[in-house]
Amino acid sequence: IGPMLVLGFESSCDETGVALVEVASPDAPSAPGSPRLLAHTLHSQIALHRAYGGVVPELASRDHIRRVVPLLREALGRSGRTLADVDAIAYTQGPGLAGALLVGCAFAEALATALDRPVVPVHHLEGHLLSPLLSADPPTFPFVALLVSGGHTQLMRVDGVGRYTLLGETLDDAAGEAFDKTAKLLGLPYPGGPALAKLAEGGRADAIKLPRPMLHSDDLNFSFAGLKTAVLTRVRDLCPAGEALNEAVRADVARAFQDAIVEVLVKKSLKALKQSGLQRLVVAGGVGANRHLRAMLDAAARRHRLRVHYPELEFCTDNGAMIALAGALRLVADASVARAPGTFAVRPR
Ligand code: KG4
Ligand code: ZN
Repeated sequence: IGPMLVLGFESSCDETGVALVEVASPDAPSAPGSPRLLAHTLHSQIALHRAYGGVVPELASRDHIRRVVPLLREALGRSGRTLADVDAIAYTQGPGLAGALLVGCAFAEALATALDRPVVPVHHLEGHLLSPLLSADPPTFPFVALLVSGGHTQLMRVDGVGRYTLLGETLDDAAGEAFDKTAKLLGLPYPGGPALAKLAEGGRADAIKLPRPMLHSDDLNFSFAGLKTAVLTRVRDLCPAGEALNEAVRADVARAFQDAIVEVLVKKSLKALKQSGLQRLVVAGGVGANRHLRAMLDAAARRHRLRVHYPELEFCTDNGAMIALAGALRLVADASVARAPGTFAVRPR
């Protein structure tokens, strides 16, 4: 039995992604090889939502509808395969924006119905979690994963595909959400994370002091809402009459914020590794693209003789490749995850 070709769709928020991943069939006589990404296409709606300062769900859904067919055609063209070659169709079932999810779901389910192929609904976070497996030097199981996206901040123990144990998570805002809200406070454009990171590069270390929430708590949980409030208070102290902050001070605030959040993320990741007795850390999700976070984790890894794996930068933020990959790996691990198409159900939460 030859390799399986899995087509994947991502549409949970403001990126439309399509990808084709090939993976050895579980019935193949040879040992299963590593999955191969044949092609992926992505359209980001950042420009569409920028004027509104955040994602407008209705506009997101409409744009997913417009983009999905051209992206699929392009991905197929690049892969050299046709729809007839596709063995299963994976799509993001949630969490995310209901209307946006429904576009990917409806399209994938309808296509699977027409092609008479099974579907594999994928949890968006599992896509992020497994995305480092797309890199040239993929991590081996088991590992600890630090999942830091716009909607989630979690530490997980990963023993294999589908074998995840939650070690800790945020009690309020996600790390990316904290970046975005703080960026907004500083008058930066959406999406705030990368803009704030860029501004922070010009800021001075320790010019402004911010708290490190839950840095010394016994558990592996996080809390970032207080940090955002602390930034707000500092900004008000610096300009009591509501005048605009000058560029240098804004850079200092951005730097202070980034230093604080990164310190907490690094410290808790190290704690999770120590508690679980593991030496491998995998970082995934949009905030995993943050350069300062990567630099601090790499420095900690050298000190403690640990390995840190990151997804390729293009697979840190939302994309179709991670969904096709997660669907393919799920299918190989347990063929019963594939089901007949026709259930148009998403799970926004
Ligand atoms: O994983 P992702 O694309 O979408 C979700 O599933 O949420 O993550 C998006 C989040 C946003 O909050 C964005 O501001 C943040 O990741 N982000 C960053 C950086 N790049 C993206 N945060 C900090 N530094 C970055 N370089
Ligand atoms: Zn995501």
